[in-house]
Amino acid sequence: MIDCDIKDIALADEGRARIEWADRDMPVLASIRERFEREKPLAGVRIGACLHVTTETANLMRTLVAGGAEVRLCASNPLSTQDDTAASLVRDYGVSVFAIRGEDNETYYRHIDAVIDFKPQITLDDGGDVVGRIHESRRDALPGIIGGAEETTTGVIRLAAMAAEGELAYPVIAVNDAKTKHFFDNRYGTGQSTLDGIIRLTNRLLAGRTLVVSGYGWCGKGLAMRAKGMGCRVIVCEVDPVAALEAHMDGFAVMPREEAAHEADIWVTVTGNLNVIDDVCFEAMKDGAIICNSGHFNSEINIPWLEEHALRKEALKPLVEEYTMPDGRTIILLAEGRLVNLSGAEGHPANVMDMSFANHALASEYLIEHARDMEPKVYDVPAQIDEDIAALKLATLGVHIDELTPEQIAYMNTWQVGTV
Ligand SMILES: NC(=O)c1ccc[n+]([C@@H]2O[C@H](COP(=O)([O-])OP(=O)(O)OC[C@H]3O[C@@H](n4cnc5c(N)ncnc54)[C@H](O)[C@@H]3O)[C@@H](O)[C@H]2O)c1
Repeated sequence: MIDCDIKDIALADEGRARIEWADRDMPVLASIRERFEREKPLAGVRIGACLHVTTETANLMRTLVAGGAEVRLCASNPLSTQDDTAASLVRDYGVSVFAIRGEDNETYYRHIDAVIDFKPQITLDDGGDVVGRIHESRRDALPGIIGGAEETTTGVIRLAAMAAEGELAYPVIAVNDAKTKHFFDNRYGTGQSTLDGIIRLTNRLLAGRTLVVSGYGWCGKGLAMRAKGMGCRVIVCEVDPVAALEAHMDGFAVMPREEAAHEADIWVTVTGNLNVIDDVCFEAMKDGAIICNSGHFNSEINIPWLEEHALRKEALKPLVEEYTMPDGRTIILLAEGRLVNLSGAEGHPANVMDMSFANHALASEYLIEHARDMEPKVYDVPAQIDEDIAALKLATLGVHIDELTPEQIAYMNTWQVGTV
């Protein structure tokens, strides 16, 4: 059997059925896979991926293998791995997987090291843990790497910081910043799947409840919109005046976190920042408030403060923990503060990951063709790739659009025509 560290290969049948089910709603990626199968643009290239090990990711891995790549995959979060998916990837699709749901921190980084030991030529990250590890302590892997791609906002922010300090050693394509990624995945994907995670873990009725969203970026907008649709009264907390104004104009209550704390029945952070729910919030929260995070890292909620100040902690059910405060109030934390949509549910639906992962597949192909001419910095996905993916997606949806007429093209390119 190929190199791997997974929970149980016997889970592969279930994993395969779910991978195929997801594939039915990923037509853009499937069409790329068909072309890759014929043209083998990734022939012989080693790709090391650190992504959430879900059925959608499995279909990206299949696409890379179809293109001729050798692939090794580890998890980008200790709680997001679907063990049956991992098993099927190993048994059915020839992908070397190092990921076990619930792995401890030491195992998580051992698995990342296994991907680096594979000497990848291309790295695919979700959150920048592989790129970070290679640059900090595994520089031995640098000489063979031609480039990488990054899936999420937090990872792109980390990469931009590395590039600004002159530390980034190879070019990385910011898949997150493609329009066909964050307009859809971050907004509609996170919006729906975050509520899915909360509902699966708590089975609470959302209608009539006050839900606080911290962060009105792409993810926060999607979440606020979907929570409103479920009947929640939505409050937004922000630090950016423009984003706060947009939330206000979109019809949401906007207020500081200390005030929102008195109102929240459910509170979700999705900012990419640190200690967004902090002591000032815990001290003001209602009894029984539910808190969770859908941002990339589990540092958005100050869990160490809760651990230190709560009288006791009790697991009510898996991934639902109740903290009792000295004044008797309880605060309920979901999924250990890790991505609630991937820990409590299955992450984004396949239909949006179809576009995100089409970007990854095409970014890998682009790196093979162009990396030698690229500098060690963060690159946007080429606009043509973004447009091609949107056009393919529309075609699969049976949506047709207008084309510019020659007259309109000429008009758009002239400056002489003014008021008539
Ligand atoms: N759960 C998922 O599956 C998923 C999917 C995509 C992105 N993400 C992650 O979600 C996070 C947000 O991503 P995004 O694309 O929405 O980013 P974004 O940059 O579009 O939005 C983040 C927003 O948070 C606000 N913010 C920052 N600090 C804050 C604070 N202390 N209090 C309140 N608001 C604050 C910013 O002003 C900004 O408007 C990132 O960590 C990203 O990696 C998660």
